[in-house]
Amino acid sequence: MAQDTPQTPKDIEPLARIARFSWDWAPALCAPGDGCADYHRAWSMLRLVQAQGKPPAGWAFFHAEIARAAAQGARRVLISGGADTGVLAIVASGFRNAGVTPQITYVDRCATPVMQNRLLGAELGLDLTACTADMLSFRAEGMDLVIAHSFLVFFPRDHRGRVVANWAASLVPGGAVLMSSALAEDGEGEPWRPAGADDIPTRQARLTEQARAAGLAPAEAAELAEVAGWFWATRPTRRTGPLAETELRGLFEAAGLTVERVDYTAKATAARTGTGTVRRRRAEIVARKPA
Ligand SMILES: C[S@@+](CC[C@H](N)C(=O)[O-])C[C@H]1O[C@@H](n2cnc3c(N)ncnc32)[C@H](O)[C@@H]1O
Repeated sequence: MAQDTPQTPKDIEPLARIARFSWDWAPALCAPGDGCADYHRAWSMLRLVQAQGKPPAGWAFFHAEIARAAAQGARRVLISGGADTGVLAIVASGFRNAGVTPQITYVDRCATPVMQNRLLGAELGLDLTACTADMLSFRAEGMDLVIAHSFLVFFPRDHRGRVVANWAASLVPGGAVLMSSALAEDGEGEPWRPAGADDIPTRQARLTEQARAAGLAPAEAAELAEVAGWFWATRPTRRTGPLAETELRGLFEAAGLTVERVDYTAKATAARTGTGTVRRRRAEIVARKPA
């Protein structure tokens, strides 16, 4: 049965508890070699405290595509990476609204978001398999949809083709990749200067207040502001190189997937590349494996 009142991802994601879990456990769960402990520890807490629990960008796009696919019988979904439970909350609420029970496989190389996803899956009673695995080698079978949120851009250029080939191999004929990602415009911009770098202490003070208001202890609020200051000063650092539409189309084509849509949804912003800046815009993408 479809929901009478459509649910948003925020309605079903208990972000305060999910954020508390990663804040407490990421130092033990994140593999030191991956260098993700600060990121995975703070990501959900920043979404909770700073972004008032906002779901990842593009959730309405995913809901619309999930509704369309579910009406045509789609049930099996691969979530390719997720820094916390934001993407799972999008997928679960999208299928709930469609009145369909999906079988979800979630993959991330890091145990922290994998555990967060298992917790949310248990709470919502989902049919979920959450795996700690590397998308450079992981392949699922018989997937109707692959969902990827801001994922491919974090791989070095020469690795991206392997990820897309694994998505394609995981899909049934007629299945689709649904993707939300920032895509770079061609050409190099100005030399990099972090936006608002001078304001970081002011922003940290505001975040500390927000964190205290959200119930964090004074030492935790200070720690969160410290990590956020580091994010703001250094991110997004793209050691991997930006991802542009032409490259993305080439990767899909090489994997035998047909690009159906690349829709830009936001204004361009500057992002760091390592040597300078690129202008990039968020896009919503659908690519399909021919039936
Ligand atoms: C930028 S995050 C995705 C953020 C996304 N916007 C969200 O809201 O969840 C990228 C995720 O990819 C994971 N990741 C990085 N390399 C990976 C790999 N080789 N295989 C699987 N997951 C990987 C990281 O652990 C991280 O959780």
